[in-house]
Amino acid sequence: MPRRLMILRVVVNGGNREADVEPRLLLSDFLRQGLELTGTHVGCEHGVCGACTILFDGEPARSCIMFAVQADGHAIETVESLSPDGVRLNPLQEAFRDAHGLQCGFCTPGILMTLSAFLRDNPVPSEGQVRDALSGNLCRCTGYQHIVEAVTRVSRNPLL
Ligand code: FES
Ligand code: FES
Repeated sequence: MPRRLMILRVVVNGGNREADVEPRLLLSDFLRQGLELTGTHVGCEHGVCGACTILFDGEPARSCIMFAVQADGHAIETVESLSPDGVRLNPLQEAFRDAHGLQCGFCTPGILMTLSAFLRDNPVPSEGQVRDALSGNLCRCTGYQHIVEAVTRVSRNPLL
């Protein structure tokens, strides 16, 4: 039986993309395999770990529990969008590097995307707010302390 394909038009990291995709294709697989944006990681594949977090119209979303066709007409940002030129790190990424906010790094892209939206909306967060923001992203390595410290470095809250 011929495969049924649907046309997908989506803005990814500021660029228009168009593809014919199977209706069952996951957004995470479209990004990783279709567009070779492998910065989006896939861990649990059922919406628990947060490794696949991207920004969907500016808000964090788990790309492993969305179909690619659901992104039709929408804007997606992946971790690749954070670098200002594809080489340099942005301030949040630099803070992660400097504060040792990652170890294996598997969780890091999802956490960076979650925190990017969080800091955009909460530029002066309390430590509790940072920890709440991280509650949907699992990290098995760091114990979160160094991630919170990284946020401290880029936030404008001198009390954090
Ligand atoms: S891979 Fe999507 S939430 Fe874990
Ligand atoms: S740095 Fe290894 S899971 Fe977070």
